[in-house]
Amino acid sequence: MAYSNITLDFDGPVATLTVNRPSVLNALNGPTLAEMKDALWSVWTRQGCAALILTGAGDKAFIAGADIAAMANMGPTEAVAFAEAGHCVCNLLERMPRVAIAAVNGYALGGGCELSLACDVVIASENAVFGQPEVKLGITPGFGGTARLPRAIGRARAMEWILAGGTWKATEALSAGLVNRVVPPADLPAEARRLADTIASRGPLAVQAAKRLVHDGLSVPLDAALRTEQAVFANLFATGDQKEGTQAFVEKRRPEFKGS
Ligand code: COA
Repeated sequence: MAYSNITLDFDGPVATLTVNRPSVLNALNGPTLAEMKDALWSVWTRQGCAALILTGAGDKAFIAGADIAAMANMGPTEAVAFAEAGHCVCNLLERMPRVAIAAVNGYALGGGCELSLACDVVIASENAVFGQPEVKLGITPGFGGTARLPRAIGRARAMEWILAGGTWKATEALSAGLVNRVVPPADLPAEARRLADTIASRGPLAVQAAKRLVHDGLSVPLDAALRTEQAVFANLFATGDQKEGTQAFVEKRRPEFKGS
């Protein structure tokens, strides 16, 4: 698929998906979501890929939300399909066996905030602004915000964010627990890459299993999550990576993981 609304680059074990509609602050319309879905499947199936960095083109916005002009003429039939496309992209970010790092370089509003919520790690630049302003448009969040935001920052804060439709600075998102860290704008790409490279140096089967355990564990009772963790932990002892990782420690050398 040829992309006109995004770019997708692979550099060693790290993929970078950039939403590239800076004239509308990288707002998400149907074609953009379709391209993102296609790109995320490529990332999912790319041999040797460990991490994805998701970011926005330009220095003003990560993603300023769903494309309001595109939504203006939608009826319920179009809206349910649009929301499904947004959910699909968010679910791919959450479920793919690659670590998704949001590098939030400006406005992350509505669908932009929701995409960052679906990522595993969020690094924000000092000029990032988060919010779920949908109620200002007479709608609710539609790409997972009502479900993921309270899980990420707690019910009280999520209620205020969603019901008042305000905006929050990067430092406020940091103290709410939505963001892992805040860095100067110029440092954001390198900081995201540094983390991606660190993750890429770890045991790939372990990283993939741990991501899935955390996500799945959040939506089941504690007992079930602990039992699943035990089974997955045990299964890793049948892998070469587990032998290599522990042996390398004992031999005081760097492990060479093969992902098998
Ligand atoms: N959908 C469609 N177009 C958008 C957009 C969106 N979500 N967000 C911004 N744009 C467009 C603007 O219409 C404008 O286009 P124009 O140059 O043709 O007029 C361009 O991007 C620049 O935005 P502008 O509003 O001029 O920039 P600003 O710095 O004054 O304000 C925001 C920035 C983010 C505060 C403002 O654009 C905004 O509130 N956007 C909507 C955010 C939103 O509600 N998102 C959730 C949607 S569900």
